[in-house]
Amino acid sequence: PPMEQLLNLDEIEQAATKQISKRAWAYYYSAGDDLISKRFNGSVYQQILLRPRVFVDCTKCDLTTTLLGHKVGLPIFVSPAAMARLAHPDGEHGIARGISEFAGMQIVSNNASMTPEQIVEGSAPGQIFGWQIYVQNERKKSEAMLARINKMSDKYKFICLTLDAPVPGKRELDEKSNFESAAPIASALKTTDEPVRPGGGGVGQQLFWGTASDLTWKTALPWLAKHTSLPIVLKGIQTHEDAYLAMQFTPQVKAILLSNHGGRALDTAPPAVHTLLEIRKYCPEVLNRIEVWVDGGIRRGTDVVKALCLGATAVGVGRAALFGLGAGGAEGVRRTFEILEAETATCMKLLGAAKVSDLGPKFINSRAVERD
Ligand code: FNR
Repeated sequence: PPMEQLLNLDEIEQAATKQISKRAWAYYYSAGDDLISKRFNGSVYQQILLRPRVFVDCTKCDLTTTLLGHKVGLPIFVSPAAMARLAHPDGEHGIARGISEFAGMQIVSNNASMTPEQIVEGSAPGQIFGWQIYVQNERKKSEAMLARINKMSDKYKFICLTLDAPVPGKRELDEKSNFESAAPIASALKTTDEPVRPGGGGVGQQLFWGTASDLTWKTALPWLAKHTSLPIVLKGIQTHEDAYLAMQFTPQVKAILLSNHGGRALDTAPPAVHTLLEIRKYCPEVLNRIEVWVDGGIRRGTDVVKALCLGATAVGVGRAALFGLGAGGAEGVRRTFEILEAETATCMKLLGAAKVSDLGPKFINSRAVERD
């Protein structure tokens, strides 16, 4: 069907599923073990109720907000996801084009299938990017990449260090689909000059080859500070204890991204909403000191609004951007964001909120998910 007839993110995912290769689908869709965290990411928002107020002027609705001091058109960003060219030849550059009219923010994966220079080429003024890093065992490689990103600081405004996947989760769908196709796909699409990686495991396993699993609070951040002066965002925080620790590293660390990697790392790890609720309860000062972003399971404007009401500064989408790309390249990504934007605005108007800063806990009832 034409893109305009796809009405929600599920329909876009279905359209993409028909168009992309089985192997790409398995890599994107897959998650750890039994997919418990992945499914929970999606269902947790359904348990939170909205508390709409009436008699509020909602002729206008302003979705703009500020992330790390940069104005963006939407409180919704693209989370880093590897290998976009598996979905469509437009790749990560197509995602950038797709969100340009929304003045959106995109975090580019360490394992992107295009170079960081290609991805930002021709991006709209004001459009901002972050670079996500998986520190490599051969630190020199990571240091060279950081030097490249530092040179593009007009586009790349921060470094996002992912912490929740020091080793890849056990993604059986991905592994299974790989049995049917022996070629090491990750190596074929990589843009770096790295040697061909072993073809076993799934795409995820291949991509993780060479990634360091020895990072600690003590060593990683000082190392990073030596190689970049860009702000740092820590991705994959899943407990209030680690949120508190992250806050000790201000001002270098400017934001944390609560995430369980879309359920792709540790299965039965908590959805970001649970971590956000923990933080509200045990160390609410975190929410005032640094920005708290969340991702995982965002499918509807109501999900976006609920996360913001709980104190998130913005929400990320991973698979939704890839499936948008799979359904129609840059245009599919544009449609995905158009839907999310319209749904978010409708939700806010029906709720009685005219701008992002109006949103707060008074608009939700989250008792059903506060059981700890
Ligand atoms: C990811 N994610 C991810 N995260 C990261 O820090 N670096 C990466 O390279 C990748 N790669 C990646 C590939 C694919 C195919 C997916 C689906 C995800 C995780 C991603 O940033 C994000 O946390 C989740 O995708 C959010 O969940 P949803 O929106 O997919 O439900």
